[in-house]
Formats: sequence, structure tokens, C-alpha cells
Amino acid sequence: MDLSGHSALVTGAGRRLGRAFAEGLAARGAAIAVHYGGSAAGAEAVARAAGRLGRPALALQADLADPSQATSLVERAAAGLGGLDILVNSAAIFEPGGLLETDLAAWERHLSINLTAPFLLSQAFARHRAGRPGAIVNLLDWRALRPGADHFAYTVSKAALAAMTKSLAISLAPSIRVNGLALGAILPPEGEPRDPEQILERLPAGRWGTVEEAVDALLFLVGGSDFVTGAILHLDGGRQLA
Ligand SMILES: NC(=O)c1ccc[n+]([C@@H]2O[C@H](COP(=O)([O-])OP(=O)(O)OC[C@H]3O[C@@H](n4cnc5c(N)ncnc54)[C@H](OP(=O)(O)O)[C@@H]3O)[C@@H](O)[C@H]2O)c1
Repeated sequence: MDLSGHSALVTGAGRRLGRAFAEGLAARGAAIAVHYGGSAAGAEAVARAAGRLGRPALALQADLADPSQATSLVERAAAGLGGLDILVNSAAIFEPGGLLETDLAAWERHLSINLTAPFLLSQAFARHRAGRPGAIVNLLDWRALRPGADHFAYTVSKAALAAMTKSLAISLAPSIRVNGLALGAILPPEGEPRDPEQILERLPAGRWGTVEEAVDALLFLVGGSDFVTGAILHLDGGRQLA
């Protein structure tokens, strides 16, 4: 896949999966805006490495809990790269807690970062594209399509993001394609004392997915068939069925 001539903004790209998505896009030739919240060193390293590959690249800080910072991020990226035609909404928070443990602050935090920020970024991106082609990928979770009781606020935020993915696909067709990538167990959450072996018991595939598989799936949604829009691709080893 050759993405040279394209420019991408990846949110939450200073570490973990967002970083791998940014590196994967840059490796295929895209110019890259590497957004971060607190992971400045990681984001700057990604931008420097992309620069060494000859790609225009910059690291941009924004707190996505702040609507004005989320809204202005697209124009900052477009100004820095000379345009933007790919948006990957990867930044998110994932806090534990069922219904009774979820206080209003946690609820609002999840909705603002996981749902309102992708909404504002997508709206700003659509305005920037002004009818020209583009692609948006929203990072989802198998829980989005099969909500349960755990991670209550997170799950509801991702379920709403799955619904928004489809509404955006219709709203922005035919110029901008909008798809969702619903991940299962790829990287264990930081700071959550869960045994990776225990998760395997509920995984039909019998193994964790790899970061490379997640990057490949993202690249397909970004640069594969332009007949694919409004789709939600599950990369979850069958978890949503189990
Ligand atoms: N890991 C998995 O196996 C898995 C499974 C299912 C779904 N997913 C989804 O895939 C995506 C990436 O997953 P991940 O595990 O790599 O995520 P992660 O480790 O939780 O990273 C979260 C990212 O979001 C950014 N972020 C959080 N709050 C922010 C804020 N207020 N402002 C700006 N940035 C903020 C962080 O940026 P800074 O570090 O710069 O602050 C960080 O880069 C997420 O949408 C997640 O829900 C992942």
C-alpha cells in the first residue's frame, strides 16, 4: 500500500497502539501529525523517525477533554502538514467500574475523551475536506457491539462511537469514508491487574492479537477498497461472539 501524497492525524499516538498506527501510516508514505496528551517524548520520537523516512511529520499536544483543543487540532495538523485527508481517532480512556462505581465525573470523562472529541475532530475534518475525499477510522472495542456490565462508562462511550461511525458514514458519503476498528485483546491495559491467561478462556481464537495485526487492519480501512464505508471490522479473535 502506498500512502504517499496522503496526510494523517492520529490521536493518542505517543504510545502503544496509537503510536503503532502512526508508525504504520508513515512507513507506507503518509505525512503524519502525531497527537499526544502527556506522552511528549514518544510522540516526538515518532515524528523524528517519520522525518528520517522523508515524511513531513509533527507532534502536536492537545488535551482532548477540552472541546476547544479537540476542535482546533485538525486545523493545526492541516496547517502543519499542508492539508489532511486521514483521521484516526485512537485516543481513549479505559477505566474500570460497573454501574454503581461510576460517578458523574468518570462518566463525563469517558464521554468527553472517547466520544465528544471524535465528534468534534470528525466535524472539523469534514469542514477541512469540504467535499474532497478522505477517510476516518474510529477505534472501537468488541464491547461496543456487545455491551456488558464491566467498564460501564467506557463501554457506553464506545457503543455510542460505533453508532456515530455509521451516522458519520452516511453524513459524509460519498466523499469521506468512515469505518470502525473494533479491537479485542491486543495489548493488556496498563495498571489493570488482570491475568492475560484468564482472558484467553473467553477468546475463541485461543490467543491474543498482535499490534501488527491491528496496524494491518487499520491500513486496510484507511487505504483499502473505497467501497467500504460504515463498516465495523472486528479484530478480536471472535470475542464478541463468546
Ligand atoms: N489495547 C487494546 O488491546 C485495545 C482493545 C480494545 C480497544 N482498544 C482501543 O484502541 C485504542 C488504542 O488503545 P491503547 O490500548 O493503545 O490505548 P491507551 O494505552 O489507553 O492509550 C490511550 C491514548 O489516549 C491518549 N489520551 C487519553 N486521554 C487523553 C486526553 N485527555 N487528551 C489527549 N490524549 C489522551 C493518551 O495520550 P498520552 O499518553 O499522550 O496522554 C494515549 O496515547 C483506544 O481507543 C482503545 O479503546 C484497545
